Amino acid sequence: MKSYQKLTTPQPAGCQVEEEGAAPMPPARGRMAPWWVGSGLLVAAVLLSTITVWVLRQVSGGWLGPTPPPKCLLVPESHRFDCYPERQVVVTQELCESRGCCFIQSPLPAEGKQGVPWCFYPPDFPSYTLESLNQTALGMVGLLVRREKAYYPRDIEMLRLDVEFETDTRLHIKITDAANPRYEVPLDVPRAKKRAENPIYSLNFSWDPFGVLLRRTATGTVLLNTTVAPLIFADQFLQISTSLPSRFLYGLGEHRGSLLHSLDWNTLTLWARDVAPTESFNLYGAHPFYLLMEEGGDAHGVFLLNSNAMEVALQPAPALTWRTIGGVLDFYVFLGPDPNMVIQQYQQVIGFPAMPPLWALGFHLCRWGYGSSNGTWQTVRAMRNYQIPQDAQWNDIDYMDGYRDFTFDSQKFASLPSLVEDLHKHGQRYVMILDPGISSTNPHGSYWPFDEGLRRGLFLNTTQGQPLIGKVWPGYTAFADFSNPDTHQWWLENLQHFHAHVPFDGLWIDMNEPSNFMDGSEDGCPPGELDSPPYTPAVLGDSLSSKTVCASAKQKASVHYNLHNLYGLMEAKATASALTQIRGKRPFIISRSTFPSQGRYSGHWLGDNRSQWKDMYYSIPGLLSFSLFGIPLVGADICGFSSSTSEELCTRWMQLGAFYPFARNHNTQNEKAQDPTVFSPAARTAMKDVLLTRYSLLPFLYTLFHHAHLQGDTVARPLFFEFPQDVATLELDRQFLWGRSLLVTPVLEPGVDSVTGYVPQGTWYDFYTGSSVNSSGEMLKMSAPLEHLNLHIREGSILPTQKPGTTSEETRGNPLRLIVALSSSATAWGDLFWDDGESLDTFERGSYSYLVFNVTQNIFTSTVLHASTEATSVTIGTLSIFGVQKQPSKVLLNGQEKPFSYLDNQVLTVSDLGISLSQGFSVQWL
Ligand code: NOJ
Repeated sequence: MKSYQKLTTPQPAGCQVEEEGAAPMPPARGRMAPWWVGSGLLVAAVLLSTITVWVLRQVSGGWLGPTPPPKCLLVPESHRFDCYPERQVVVTQELCESRGCCFIQSPLPAEGKQGVPWCFYPPDFPSYTLESLNQTALGMVGLLVRREKAYYPRDIEMLRLDVEFETDTRLHIKITDAANPRYEVPLDVPRAKKRAENPIYSLNFSWDPFGVLLRRTATGTVLLNTTVAPLIFADQFLQISTSLPSRFLYGLGEHRGSLLHSLDWNTLTLWARDVAPTESFNLYGAHPFYLLMEEGGDAHGVFLLNSNAMEVALQPAPALTWRTIGGVLDFYVFLGPDPNMVIQQYQQVIGFPAMPPLWALGFHLCRWGYGSSNGTWQTVRAMRNYQIPQDAQWNDIDYMDGYRDFTFDSQKFASLPSLVEDLHKHGQRYVMILDPGISSTNPHGSYWPFDEGLRRGLFLNTTQGQPLIGKVWPGYTAFADFSNPDTHQWWLENLQHFHAHVPFDGLWIDMNEPSNFMDGSEDGCPPGELDSPPYTPAVLGDSLSSKTVCASAKQKASVHYNLHNLYGLMEAKATASALTQIRGKRPFIISRSTFPSQGRYSGHWLGDNRSQWKDMYYSIPGLLSFSLFGIPLVGADICGFSSSTSEELCTRWMQLGAFYPFARNHNTQNEKAQDPTVFSPAARTAMKDVLLTRYSLLPFLYTLFHHAHLQGDTVARPLFFEFPQDVATLELDRQFLWGRSLLVTPVLEPGVDSVTGYVPQGTWYDFYTGSSVNSSGEMLKMSAPLEHLNLHIREGSILPTQKPGTTSEETRGNPLRLIVALSSSATAWGDLFWDDGESLDTFERGSYSYLVFNVTQNIFTSTVLHASTEATSVTIGTLSIFGVQKQPSKVLLNGQEKPFSYLDNQVLTVSDLGISLSQGFSVQWL
């Protein structure tokens, strides 16, 4: 028996270390029984397994090998943790037992699905033992020692465990090699200065085998229990499992699917990949973060700060396994207790999102294949002609000369500089695409970006030290190494040069997984454990280099194997810094590939969707997931990217898309145009109207972004964030909220004129008319003719809106209208953040206005908590109060009588207020 150090100093509440396990932890010394033993599951488990084996024998003709050992039969199906996750081999009993695991064949799942693993860990599979545990200033440090080798090469014998009680709601647990440094994600994360004083969690350990047990103190809910399966820590295979307290798990991107993940043997792979979004594929970004809703409405989140290729296996126990092929196990747990707080706490670690310029929240129009600057200009003119709101015009790769970055086609795009000038004259902006693949086959001296990048050594290199050459749009390309600070300078110089000709306002960074039309490079990839690791997660294409560069490629900060998932983040960082230096204003960047902390530098669009109804639906869980990831500026290609849209689909999609935080209509080449101007007058008008509605809500949306920037609030929000106690909301992903108070219920299917949506308990007001509906928390059928998007305002809120113009610049000069939605107790609250819309760090520098609106006892008050000069030029014109039950006899503005109107649907309107935004005021109705 190995000895361990006992703790001598008293433990503060929340971090007791158990030597003799408190239930359900086993005794610290000696072997541990499976965690579910003694919980009543044992008898059921044995029975179930025996019956399963019997049934299997019958269905398989009576023979499925020898009866498994009793210890294997003890493990219920839902608790079988996969011991043989390799997909390339069909696991046999021999292979399985060579790993010391249990083999029981289960029926094959339906095609395309995974099922119960046939090869799983027995309860006594060797793991690590906690040998010592000592106090540190912030928590404790422990030593973990492996008793026996596991089956992957170079499994590490001694591990260091660091626990930091960082805040009362945040716990940091890190496990790494005790003897040798390992690669860690180069992300600046804040370090706690002192140990949390009153943590709302308690942490216990199992010593042998080592395990972590984390509880929420208030409810006793077990949030983590890692004793459910062995810890494995080999150089290129790190695995840790935990039980989950419920099946309500969200996050773990980037994937296509419902917002709520299925735990039915579902493996999610995280490895940045260029592919049209498809269920079960790893997609463009990697977000190893989940949010889980506990019974009773509490929430917690777990972030694994690791950038290697990984998969997360979900199973119905409910349980989860993290399986990564490098780095360290660096976990942050956020205890909320409500979902909004979990997301805020997550962003306290990864960083809050950048405040976008106001114009970023306007409507963006793009397509691949305008073919010329004049063609692009024509669309802009048509939009203006119909007075359809548009803030930014974009160009895709067809503006370039030979698809080379920092060039434009001098024939077809000859008028591009004039187009940009014209956009600026009309208060509009220009955004163009940039790819990280730099054309490498130009006569020497003819393409500075490549020549100079080569001279300065700024590209990804092969193991032989030569630039790695792949293929993207321009043909053969080298790939910029954004992990090298010198690359940022070169990127800036290229952009400065281009900006002098084409004064762009924002940048669209595409293909930055990085995407490669070849697997690895023109020469494939060399043999070795980076390109062919002992274990390859379930990546699309079954190889790390599938449609990207070799994992063995050398970068300044590390090998691509470690940095691949960070490529888009590092490019965004370089781009944001360049844009800021060039324009001296808030940068606007939309990136395809993303990683935690991306929101600090860019927004995201959901990639190459199709013009299909189901793609339109999937955009909602997609954007809500990015809300959880701290990237609030997100949207999907409105009307669909590939294949042909229809007028009906595009109209409905423009209605939904008008409520994407980032609203852009984008289309692939060779498809017919799908901007609003090409449709029938009825469809065009519906599109224009909904964009005007968006523009009217810009003050509200901008204020939501301010809160995201300031403290990590979500902008587009799942319903369960606001109604966490209402279990009916936990699976809803066909509707969403803006902030806490605006409910969006889009039509997501063809041929209907109504939509059924969930309306949480309370009073909700029709956004357009102010009529109220009282819900007991039920599905309600709403009328939805083609020209109508259902929007409802939650009782108790005040939305700042504005008379819409056709650009955000025009809109921001118009009078505001405040919409008050009274609660059942006739109160309401709202706020407004206002600044010049584009200067850097306005909040940080104090150049902003902040107003708070309140209603109590029939008195509306606007209080200016902070004022800046911008606010003096804007007025509040109208106050609309929804839910005023009795017609008032008098309305007083700052004590002076004022005309008003009152409608049967209980809407009181006071117009022509003409009050400067910088002035507080009150309105009373008697
Ligand atoms: C792939 C992007 O996802 C798509 O939006 C773009 O149009 C094409 N690349 C061409 O640049």
